[in-house]
Amino acid sequence: VVQAGTVESFATGTVTAFQRGQFYLVRMDNGGLLALSCKCTHLGCTVPWVEKEKKFLCPCHASAFDITGSVISAPAPRALDMFPVTIENHVVKVDTSRRIKRSGFESEQLVFPGKP
Ligand code: FES
Repeated sequence: VVQAGTVESFATGTVTAFQRGQFYLVRMDNGGLLALSCKCTHLGCTVPWVEKEKKFLCPCHASAFDITGSVISAPAPRALDMFPVTIENHVVKVDTSRRIKRSGFESEQLVFPGKP
């Protein structure tokens, strides 16, 4: 489990990359948190977040994902995997041992500070 930092250190509408654990912590405009795998669901290349375009763009075969990890452009067959997020005493924790596959984004995947 990676301690990512305090909730307050992640501004809304931002994507923060973590080398250890190889994930991105996304804070949506509505304050919800989502931890996304850096690995492309096509063939596993590391997918960088491109701030200018507000997209994850895979350098290998040009798959694109939006800020929630949902596929915008193939060949990626499904959304970026996610990892469980918990918040304890204002600290965001990401369990990188539990990779969750999903076909797309659903609002229930977001974790909100202040809610159990
Ligand atoms: Fe990302 Fe192929 S590995 S598009």
